[in-house]
Amino acid sequence: MALVKKIIIITAGLTLLAACSTAQNTAPKNTSGAAFGKPIAEKDLQAWNIDIRTQDGQGLPAGQGNAVVGEKVYNAKCASCHGPDAKGGPVFGPMVGGIGSFKTNARVLTPGSMYPYAPILFDYVRRAMPMDKPQTLTNDEVYALSAYILNLNGLVGKTDEMNSKTLAAVKMPNRDGFMVDDRPDTNAVRCMTNCKP
Ligand code: HEC
Repeated sequence: MALVKKIIIITAGLTLLAACSTAQNTAPKNTSGAAFGKPIAEKDLQAWNIDIRTQDGQGLPAGQGNAVVGEKVYNAKCASCHGPDAKGGPVFGPMVGGIGSFKTNARVLTPGSMYPYAPILFDYVRRAMPMDKPQTLTNDEVYALSAYILNLNGLVGKTDEMNSKTLAAVKMPNRDGFMVDDRPDTNAVRCMTNCKP
């Protein structure tokens, strides 16, 4: 009887071992040495590569829109937080006005009064807005919304088309309001040989 029990236990143990090794064998064989993931093609990266050089708009995508279209998109997707005419809402203060206040004690910071370059507006909205559904807007919608906010700030006409060229060309009132950071370490130049200590 004792022997039968032992055999049963051994059999159960072997079955378990066999099950484990079967599970291990289903993992793909690694023949190329340690490696994780797989190479990604440049075109598959493109969706994430949304950097814009804001000074001259390099990297702005194709597309266009004006303030007339932008107003409709704004009312549908932005006004709930930013209020009518971007004058301020339950979640965020005004996005219009304040121009000229940047260097005063009573600054009113808005895209119109603060941003040195208009492509910043495109970049910000495309990246982060609407806050509860970021990166759901089409490029045309983002151009239209940029046109709308710039128009409310008196910086472009109601039907002026904003695209990669015209948006970058908008002269923002606060373009020269920021100081260049001239602390010594910001001038550091990369050195690989014979470097100064
Ligand atoms: C759910 C609320 C919400 C919605 C909807 C929303 N926003 Fe915002 N938005 C915010 C908040 C909050 C901030 C401030 C974020 C911060 O300072 O980090 C902000 C900031 C901004 C700014 C920066 C303002 C500045 O002074 O620099 C812009 C521009 C902007 N939103 C545009 C939009 C546009 C355009 C839409 C519609 C597509 C939109 N937002 C929809 C909540 C929202």
